[in-house]
Amino acid sequence: MEDVVTLTYNGNEIRLPVITGSEGEKAIDISRLRSETGFITLDPGYANTGSCLSGITFMDGEKGVLRYRGIPVEQLAEQSTFKETAYLLIHGKLPNRDQLTRFSILLNDNSLVHTDMKAFYQNFPRASHPMGILSSMVNAMRSFYPELDSQEEEITLTMTRLLAKVRTMAAMSYKISRGHELVLPRPDLTYCENFLNMMFETPVKPYEINRAAVNALRVFWILHADHEQNCSTSSVRMVGSARVNLYAAISAGIAALWGPLHGGANQAVIEMLTQIQEEGGNFKKAIERAKDKKDPFRLMGFGHRVYKTYDPRAKIMKKMCDELLESLNINDPLLDIAKELEAVATKDPYFVDHNLYPNIDFYSGIVLRAIGIPTNMFTVMFAIGRLPGWIAQWKESMDDPKLKICRPRQIYTGNQGFDFIPSHARS
Ligand code: CMC
Repeated sequence: MEDVVTLTYNGNEIRLPVITGSEGEKAIDISRLRSETGFITLDPGYANTGSCLSGITFMDGEKGVLRYRGIPVEQLAEQSTFKETAYLLIHGKLPNRDQLTRFSILLNDNSLVHTDMKAFYQNFPRASHPMGILSSMVNAMRSFYPELDSQEEEITLTMTRLLAKVRTMAAMSYKISRGHELVLPRPDLTYCENFLNMMFETPVKPYEINRAAVNALRVFWILHADHEQNCSTSSVRMVGSARVNLYAAISAGIAALWGPLHGGANQAVIEMLTQIQEEGGNFKKAIERAKDKKDPFRLMGFGHRVYKTYDPRAKIMKKMCDELLESLNINDPLLDIAKELEAVATKDPYFVDHNLYPNIDFYSGIVLRAIGIPTNMFTVMFAIGRLPGWIAQWKESMDDPKLKICRPRQIYTGNQGFDFIPSHARS
């Protein structure tokens, strides 16, 4: 029997097809709704709206499941490299040895940033947020790396350039903000090692590769690599649907990620925990404020649109945080506050009833602090991790022969037409 739902309206009926995903999730295909009934759907925040069919990432928010191309994120965090995970997301399968070697060579060959871009960095005011700078710089990449004639080469090279250069650009911005000489990428270092080296190597203090820090960064980036149709990814797809170049689409994704309700939450969590610490460690006040409907304050690092249970990424992050701090011999008082806060909040009826659990950002800031990343660069770290996902999602949408420009509708609630009044006649 055909899988359909029947909608009854004004004494009429329309049969709408049901689309079933490979994990059994169901959607009503309303693409004929307006043309056949005159109605549109209204779904602020798109909580019930599927914007595309996608074969990249599967999430089950009720069970706390996350898989990239079918592989559980737990297995990738345990066994994969970030580079390999990026390849998996973008190309749909794990690379064989030759493919991985070719991918590594391409990333290495494209890891330098045009020296003229340095001037841009130097002209941003010192207090600029690194996310604003990164979004502008990625957009500016189109001017430095103009479009190639061959479409295939253009796509491959643009994806590679982004993966290779954004990491370099992030480290560059840190060095420039400190007034230090830039450190260039090295061909003998891995993706994660190279980033840490570009950040922390100085002429007077050579950076010694720290295995625990490298591993933490690897896991951090793998856990952030994709998360299906979240705000920034949807921005990349939406902006990309106008057929703009990939740099501009990714730049839009970075801008969306900056927001404190999205990627900016990792910075906001540390700021919240620091404030609690400065006020004597009284985290209960934060919990009470988060519950107070008259107060706009929210418990940062808690809650998620899709997860109605513990975020599987947060579980891995919390464990990794403990291991990292132990191996680096760091005693971070913010971790103690975070754990106490979590223990109380997750038993509080408000948080239980609202299904509010720690999300990935709750412990990630403590991990980044331990590695030595400054707080205002936390969201940049998220952006580097999310790049493969954004690229994979953009590529999937571009490969879709049925891709249309994204253009939602609205229900107009403003004034009804009236005549223009010349300024001298207005009251
Ligand atoms: N603290 C207190 N109350 C909360 C929180 C929170 N962190 N999150 C949601 N609620 C309440 C909210 O007030 C609302 O209550 P009520 O139904 O009584 O009015 C209810 O829970 C549902 O909230 P919502 O805003 O409708 O849920 P949403 O799905 O639109 O928002 C969210 C999801 C992640 C934006 C939200 O939980 C939030 O603001 N969390 C804090 C910011 C944060 O940690 N963001 C990182 C998300 S994970 C990383 C990423 O993917 O970007």
